[in-house]
Amino acid sequence: MSDNTLFTEYNLQGIPLKNRVVMAPMTRSRAVEANTPNELIAKHYEQRAEAGLIITEGTSPSPNGLGYPRIPGLFNEAQTAGWKKVTEAVHAAGSKIFVQQMHTGRISHVKNLPEGGEVLAPSAVKVADAFGQMYVDGEGMLPLTPARAMTTEEVESAIQEYIDSAKAAVKAGFDGVEIHGANGYLVNQFINPKSNQRTDAYGGSVEGRARFVVKIAEGMAAAIGKEKVALRISPYGVFNDMGAFEGIDEQYGYIASEMNRIGIAYIHLADMSAMTKVPVPDSIKELIRDTFKGTLILNGAYDKSRANEDLNKGKGDLVAFGVPWIANPDLVTRMKEGIALTQPDQNTFYTPGAEGYTDYKRADV
Ligand SMILES: Cc1cc2nc3c(=O)[nH]c(=O)nc-3n(C[C@H](O)[C@H](O)[C@H](O)COP(=O)(O)O)c2cc1C
Repeated sequence: MSDNTLFTEYNLQGIPLKNRVVMAPMTRSRAVEANTPNELIAKHYEQRAEAGLIITEGTSPSPNGLGYPRIPGLFNEAQTAGWKKVTEAVHAAGSKIFVQQMHTGRISHVKNLPEGGEVLAPSAVKVADAFGQMYVDGEGMLPLTPARAMTTEEVESAIQEYIDSAKAAVKAGFDGVEIHGANGYLVNQFINPKSNQRTDAYGGSVEGRARFVVKIAEGMAAAIGKEKVALRISPYGVFNDMGAFEGIDEQYGYIASEMNRIGIAYIHLADMSAMTKVPVPDSIKELIRDTFKGTLILNGAYDKSRANEDLNKGKGDLVAFGVPWIANPDLVTRMKEGIALTQPDQNTFYTPGAEGYTDYKRADV
């Protein structure tokens, strides 16, 4: 318990982490060929192997979940082989890596999907205009493609896609899989009644809205081991037309208790309030901390001192940093030694190529 808690080792259900600094998942849209990870992506993660744990950018388990331009997938052999290069590079450099499974659901443009892909969601509910646009290469910003509501069979096959992708993740050498249940993508669309108006077993009640993620986590735990399964959530987050709803605490308390029952490795709590200016109450964070007995990762506008403070107070076990990693591949060294952080160029967050991706320098070169 000190100013250095962040730099102490941690045992993540048998996975030894060299420190408690996590690299948060960040979409960077560099998978230019057939949504397949490449050497450039491997280099980017390898450069950031000072992190105790790296969580990859959102990666789709399904052709239907590739709603953003150039995001990677993990549902075919080429993608599995591409990710293998990433995990080998990261492991050789001394870090651990989970893949984040992100299915974009209704936050998609059909032109970003491969041939035959379809924009599907729990219900055919239009996304509010503030979040209603999507970039398409060569065309610029376009209105989101209206989603078709999934049939019950389609919900069940989507669950199977997550489970199959988790098996591919193990083949690709990942230490585990983080289900993206945050920020308004498919899992979150099932959890929130604003986007889930279903009347079958996958909607209509606290248990119904949680069923999609619970079945994914259960199926993955059976297929690859519960210690390799994790979940990211963003209760009270407003990004992508989500936000609070009646019974939200009960909803997330239930999800946390189900994840505890399944025994997953960690819950990752994303708090985007610094960006959205809509506060996330401490009470929901405490409820999740009390209900879920596994590892809790905190995230959202952290710096070193706030991270140490919250770890020392027992609010969480690990802290994920997002934006600070973009321009500081040596973030751990910089935080340890008090070296100023470089500010990233927002114009290259999602552009293809090395610029603003692998060309940020360590402080010592
Ligand atoms: C460029 C960029 C891409 C992001 N992509 C993802 C993503 O794919 N999946 C996800 O869960 N969060 C994503 N996020 C959110 C971050 O993981 C993190 O929650 C957010 O940046 C707040 O943490 P920070 O203040 O440390 O940056 C992204 C954030 C940025 C800046």
